[in-house]
Amino acid sequence: MESMGNLCRTHFCNDLGKQNIGEEVTLMGWVLRRRDHGGVIFIDLRDRDGITQIVFNPEINPDVHDKAHQIRSEWVLAVRGRVEARPGDMANPKLVTGEIEVLIDELRILNSSETPPFPLDEDTEVSDNLRLQYRYLDLRRPEMAANLIMRHKAVQSVRNYLNDKGFLDIETPMLTRSTPEGARDYLVPSRVNSGKFYALPQSPQLFKQLLMIAGMDKYYQIVKCFRDEDLRADRQPEFTQIDMELSFVDEEQVIALNEGMISTLFKDTLGLDFIPPFPRITYDESMARFGTDRPDIRFGMELVDLTEIAAGCGFKVFRSIADKGGAVRAINAKGCATFTRKELDVLTDWVVQFGAKGLAWVKMKADGEWQSPIAKFFTDEERAAITTAVDAEEGDLLFFGADTQKVVFQVLGELRVELAKRLDFLKKDDFQFIWVTDFPLVEYDEKDKRYQALHHPFTAPKEEDIEKLDSDPGAVYSRAYDLVLNGTEIGGGSIRIHQSSLQSKVLEVLGIGEQEADEKFGFLLKALELGAPPHGGLAFGLDRLLMIITGSDSIRNVIAFPKTQKATCPLTEAPASVARKQLTELHIRPDWKE
Ligand code: AMO
Ligand code: AMP
Repeated sequence: MESMGNLCRTHFCNDLGKQNIGEEVTLMGWVLRRRDHGGVIFIDLRDRDGITQIVFNPEINPDVHDKAHQIRSEWVLAVRGRVEARPGDMANPKLVTGEIEVLIDELRILNSSETPPFPLDEDTEVSDNLRLQYRYLDLRRPEMAANLIMRHKAVQSVRNYLNDKGFLDIETPMLTRSTPEGARDYLVPSRVNSGKFYALPQSPQLFKQLLMIAGMDKYYQIVKCFRDEDLRADRQPEFTQIDMELSFVDEEQVIALNEGMISTLFKDTLGLDFIPPFPRITYDESMARFGTDRPDIRFGMELVDLTEIAAGCGFKVFRSIADKGGAVRAINAKGCATFTRKELDVLTDWVVQFGAKGLAWVKMKADGEWQSPIAKFFTDEERAAITTAVDAEEGDLLFFGADTQKVVFQVLGELRVELAKRLDFLKKDDFQFIWVTDFPLVEYDEKDKRYQALHHPFTAPKEEDIEKLDSDPGAVYSRAYDLVLNGTEIGGGSIRIHQSSLQSKVLEVLGIGEQEADEKFGFLLKALELGAPPHGGLAFGLDRLLMIITGSDSIRNVIAFPKTQKATCPLTEAPASVARKQLTELHIRPDWKE
């Protein structure tokens, strides 16, 4: 292997074009592809930014050409040569540098490489596990490098924007107490305080509120958060928030600031213009129309309430559910009457995971005629009323959900998106933002028989609803807002409670008694008594934002070193066993087999 000697990089691989023809350049990078064309060797040299074709021609420099014979994939090279135009028919329009190549006069082999465990130059299917095990190779792939570059741009855009608006970037502790975002905590045992544990923060929620009480006025942080929950494509155990909090603001100011930040972000990353204000929908309307509080508004197929019509109908399942106070709703899959029986059966099985007990369907035939196993249970008038309500015409396919309101929303909300996926309605380059506002403050948890905060316990109730906190907590609305992009909740926040008495009241509604409140959040309750200004804020999921911006299917593709579905890291093999001595130091006696 050789040193770089006096070679010094003059350009990155993507920099070169026709404007450089005739120049002598020095490049450093990895061998992506190598082709030996009857004596002349062509290599695609790759660095972080792109690819340049370099050429070893025996007629230019026979010694260098000879040396180039041994080069293999992923070897590390330093090369010096002259930029030439590619012969007309050899130009590669797919490459930024496709019109040129570099004829090499000096070659230094800086390192060799074993054959990589998977090819980096093609779209071969590589298992996720292998990609993560050799993540440093995976990240060499141009599309992965592009994702990290995009992430960097996004972060810089956010920082510039918030710095300009007078925000202070302030760090908050990682070793702290449990924060109530609703997930399970990651715990860290304390060595010097036996039997005591830190929790890794689920978010900086309490600290950012304390910073407002400390008079910092505008805080932001791009910060890691930790949640031990079931992982999905858009969930990682550690993820990054763009977290912010502001004093002396109401929801309109927080929303306007964030619309500005997000439109600037999309301009700086994708060059797209989004002109605020973004559309808004209340929680209740979102549930009624989309079955979810994170509506994907790139397509229609909205839910239609048929409970009233169902209440008097001859289909026993629907009628009894309607009579018991449940709901019957439908969606109209336009033009989908061509679905086969098999496809309908598959969908019927698929919705079971959301609690559905069946999935009635109707294929619309000519003249409003229904083809459906349930057609016979309805009178002509009822069929006509439903057909009109869902705006159905020949060729459409209707799906019905009948159950409790909650199950119907979930089943049809999920089905709506699943159908859109199958029908290819979900265009990745169509970005549709919508704010969801006016959330209920709490929801009743049937299992635990108590109220849970829909956001977190520090969210302020709407002023006009405060009096209902005692009599009818379920009817209290909050000052929370979520920003949803293409069916993903990318951010959420609220105006907070800044009075100690109101905070105690809300904790009481949540079944958190005085003693428990004092134990868990006594420091916040105290701080609220010591001159807390009105304040509110919001946090975005940076990984989710980047997933959507880069058109990725998982947030793993925008995180340098993510975890698997089972929260492991195949590269470092974390989590790992530790020596018994370490456990003893931490005052932990294992009850697992070693
Ligand atoms: P929330 O819990 O809604 O709010 O989190 C804010 C945003 O973080 C993202 N997010 C996640 N991304 C990846 N993996 C996860 N496991 C994960 N969990 C959440 C989502 C979400 O919108 N303290 C409050 C914010 C506030 O009130 O200001 C909070 O953490 O995009
Ligand atoms: P059954 O009379 O049970 O055979 O059901 C007739 C049709 O209604 C079938 O297509 C079922 O999938 C559907 N169905 C049954 N229960 C429900 C329900 N709760 N919601 C929606 N469809 C249902």
